[in-house]
Amino acid sequence: MADETSQLDTLLHEQRTFAPSEEFRKQANFNDPAVYERAAQDPQAYWAEQAANLSWFEDYDKVLEWNAPHAKWFLNGKLNAAYNAVDRHRTTSRKNKAAIMWEGEPGDSKVFTYEMLGREVDKAAHMLKNLGVKKGDRVTIYLPMIPELPISLLACAKIGAIHSVVFGGFSAKSLKERILDGDSDVVITADGGWRRGKVVPLKGNADAAVEGTAVRKMLVVQRVGDAAETEMVAGRDVYWHEEMAKAPSTPCAAEPMDSEDILFLLYTSGTTGKPKGIVHTTAGYLVGANTSMRSVFDLKDEDIFFCTADIGWVTGHTYIVYGPLSAGATVVMYEGAPDFPARDRFWEIVEKYSVTTLYTAPTSIRTFMKWGPQYVENHNLDTLRLLGTVGEPINPEAWMWYHEHIGKGRCPIVDTWWQTETGSAMIAPLPGITETKPGSATQPVPGILADVVDENGNSVEPGHGGYLVVKHPWPSMLRTVWGDDDRFKRTYFGQFEGTYLPGDGAHKDKDSYFWILGRIDDVINVSGHRIGTMEVESALVDHNAVAESAVIGRSHEVKGQAVTAFVTVKEGVETSPELVQELKQHVVDKIGAMARPEEIIFTAELPKTRSAKIMRRLLRDIAEGRVIGDTTTLADPSVVESLKNQYSNNE
Ligand code: WT7
Repeated sequence: MADETSQLDTLLHEQRTFAPSEEFRKQANFNDPAVYERAAQDPQAYWAEQAANLSWFEDYDKVLEWNAPHAKWFLNGKLNAAYNAVDRHRTTSRKNKAAIMWEGEPGDSKVFTYEMLGREVDKAAHMLKNLGVKKGDRVTIYLPMIPELPISLLACAKIGAIHSVVFGGFSAKSLKERILDGDSDVVITADGGWRRGKVVPLKGNADAAVEGTAVRKMLVVQRVGDAAETEMVAGRDVYWHEEMAKAPSTPCAAEPMDSEDILFLLYTSGTTGKPKGIVHTTAGYLVGANTSMRSVFDLKDEDIFFCTADIGWVTGHTYIVYGPLSAGATVVMYEGAPDFPARDRFWEIVEKYSVTTLYTAPTSIRTFMKWGPQYVENHNLDTLRLLGTVGEPINPEAWMWYHEHIGKGRCPIVDTWWQTETGSAMIAPLPGITETKPGSATQPVPGILADVVDENGNSVEPGHGGYLVVKHPWPSMLRTVWGDDDRFKRTYFGQFEGTYLPGDGAHKDKDSYFWILGRIDDVINVSGHRIGTMEVESALVDHNAVAESAVIGRSHEVKGQAVTAFVTVKEGVETSPELVQELKQHVVDKIGAMARPEEIIFTAELPKTRSAKIMRRLLRDIAEGRVIGDTTTLADPSVVESLKNQYSNNE
């Protein structure tokens, strides 16, 4: 891990540490450090204690059954995720409390109290039933960040249908792959969404995606109206508002789900070209989401929680929908971009809604840093009391900027490490207990037994690095990969028996704090989004000008990592700046805008070992302008010289 050493030096450069203030500590939900020890001694007892915060229709009779790598939690319990997130609050004093405060990009806004949200979810649940959706069916949701998105998730959960949300930035092809893999026959989409004043053409993509699939019904939310041309296919397409009008306004009974019944699928990229459908089940996932709201986010009834992620990613599933709502919080949800209409949009929202807790990504913080503090200074951010980050390692400079300019030096920062697969935050400070170090996600939360190990699976001494692992099952862990249990076993448990391998490298410092260093597999983290290098490579070679390609992630000041593609063209093809643009667009069309290569470098050859393996590390060294290390295994060392020249010409 040679290149990670330099990254670690930069990380460890910042020596300041931040202990919770006495004021924060006193009021925190979790402020007794003994909880760590207690949970480590008996994780099952700890999680059972946390599970008591959910509402159960029937009690479970066993906390954990662990047939590695298969876990079952809260066996034979019966509950419903939508009931927990919405309905149970409708019979308490939270009934008329705001559940979702939604801000549309053009400035329109809506507030849903728990009672109002509950009625919408009930109606939508009836509507889905009327459309023939049954328990266990997969419903694909391809929507912008509008209220119908969380309402769709919750309506599915209410009737026991499995939702599979596909982020609105994905292409028609990516959507189709996910519809096919999940064998879904109903799609919920919109005529469009707003992004920087322009319409995102969701319906067009959805139309293209469902061709050749089993999709029989497409439910279309009218969001942009006349701003988009929407063709409705007779017999297949129906409007959300028309179907809602036909649905009864009566309560819809919550389907009693088994603890281990599937709540949702969410696709994520891996080392091969095909995305994995991560499977989450009802009880364990909800326990993880709900617990972390109270522990990591110190949630109080008075809090206004603003998570800036899209519900198309796991962060939005867990920290816009299931976590905060199951804990009875008020969430702020925003449709658009942080710089529209102006670069102070987030701060305007924080001020307008009196946000107390802000959860965002390091890439956004670095963008705000670049824009400068003037966009923050005109706004009153006094209501903020806790800040969070997620998605990628945060560099100490960004951490300090967040601390000073947004938190005004008084808000604790929780840097939360987790994944689509883990369901909820795994390594993160407890803000009333943990002394934080900028750049470190600190330590595993209570009940999570994580470690850093060497290639033999032995725990490394403090001061050393290796593979991040989780040694004991936890409630919100993925249960399998949809339709491919072998891939689940191979990917996550193939390296160390009975131990979960997340695919990240980490360093453990002398205080046993964890410093996450990034992916150790062929996955790139661009602005907190996971992109498989193989996916981008397949998209490129799919273009008729391309013979071969190698894709790597190189470090990028704002995005964390950027996609760099090395491409060899077919005989007779002329390379040109136009071809570069065409290839970039081709990747966008095939996968989505987040996978667009930052740069494409044409090369006569790719550096390969004598056994014909592409030397990606070498390509990364070239792209990052580092001195080239050992090239003795190269089949043809002159390739490197010409590549270096190519690369510097490109800049
Ligand atoms: C990968 C998971 C679940 C959050 C959104 C991303 C990286 C995530 C951190 C952090 C360092 C982080 C890891 C991880 N990552 N949070 N706080 N510090 N790295 O979910 O798309 O499943 O990606 O994001 O590399 O494996 P995801």
